[in-house]
Amino acid sequence: ALTSMRQLLDHAAENGYGLPAFNVNNMEQVKAIMEAADATDSPVILQGSAGARKYAGEPFLRHLIEAAAEAYPHIPIAMHQDHGASPAVCARAIQSGFTSVMMDGSLHEDGKTPASYDYNAEVTRKVVEIAHACGVSVEGELGCLGSLETGEAGEEDGVGAEGKLSEDQLLTHPDEAADFVKATGVDALAIAIGTSHGAYKFTQAPTGKVLRIDRVKEIHERIPTVHLVMHGSSSVPQEWLEIINNYGGDMGQTYGVPVDEIVQGIKHGVRKVNIDTDLRMASTGATRKHLSENTANFDPRKYYKAAEDAMKQICKDRYEAFGAAGQA
Ligand code: G3H
Ligand code: 13P
Ligand code: NA
Ligand code: ZN
Repeated sequence: ALTSMRQLLDHAAENGYGLPAFNVNNMEQVKAIMEAADATDSPVILQGSAGARKYAGEPFLRHLIEAAAEAYPHIPIAMHQDHGASPAVCARAIQSGFTSVMMDGSLHEDGKTPASYDYNAEVTRKVVEIAHACGVSVEGELGCLGSLETGEAGEEDGVGAEGKLSEDQLLTHPDEAADFVKATGVDALAIAIGTSHGAYKFTQAPTGKVLRIDRVKEIHERIPTVHLVMHGSSSVPQEWLEIINNYGGDMGQTYGVPVDEIVQGIKHGVRKVNIDTDLRMASTGATRKHLSENTANFDPRKYYKAAEDAMKQICKDRYEAFGAAGQA
């Protein structure tokens, strides 16, 4: 059944686990996530970005998620709008039945220009007012995602600051987080602690600590009742990178966020972990491999199924690693 994200994240906080929030654009992704959740008995967050709405169209996206709720009535599902660029976008998502919205006021409506604290607080407060009146939960974002090494936001089109970011922008400040929560009333807060969107997060194999878990801890201590969200949390599986490149692909060498570090974040208050890139890579790798090994095949269902199975395995791994398994 569709449920608000607040309920899911409150349960996660009470029971000390984290929930992966997977981006969805098509039926195979939705099915992969639901099959993994069913197999592991996990609650589900399905999130759609502006890019997903552009790709699938709002009715298809909404009905895919509603179909998931119908097919799996025993699994609670939050239908979440990812990176809403304005109060108007969030209002439309609420109108169309989303049970949760993200107002990303860390950037202006263009999704590129970093916005001031005051702008962010104002648009986010507005969304909370509308959303809470409708029983819909709200995620805000404070700080800009990007590499602490290079100050680059990452490769994602549509979501990510343009130009170099300063350390001040790249790390969410605990006092500012406390003020922001007071000013807006958000249910969940996305924080910047060293992750970035897309596949190209780190150029070196992570040795030890890549994220500022100390900062997660400090923020959680200041705002213990607000659920922390980590965007840009794909782990960029090296085995899928290899498969993509072994079967005709050409991705550059790159590394993601180690699952262990996400688990550390969950220990210190992270409840929602956004993942898109890992499923993109698994699906691309599995499709390439399948087509290359089955050159006579022209039935798309066969390679779609291969992609679905690959995505499902990643979803299962994350549900288990984050402690969500058995919690539905
Ligand atoms: O945060 C960004 C997500 O990975 C969505 O990406 O805008 O290409 O759908 P997208
Ligand atoms: P990745 O690009 O690391 O998968 O992050 C996705 C995300 O944060 C969606 O909002
Ligand atoms: Na989001
Ligand atoms: Zn994001």
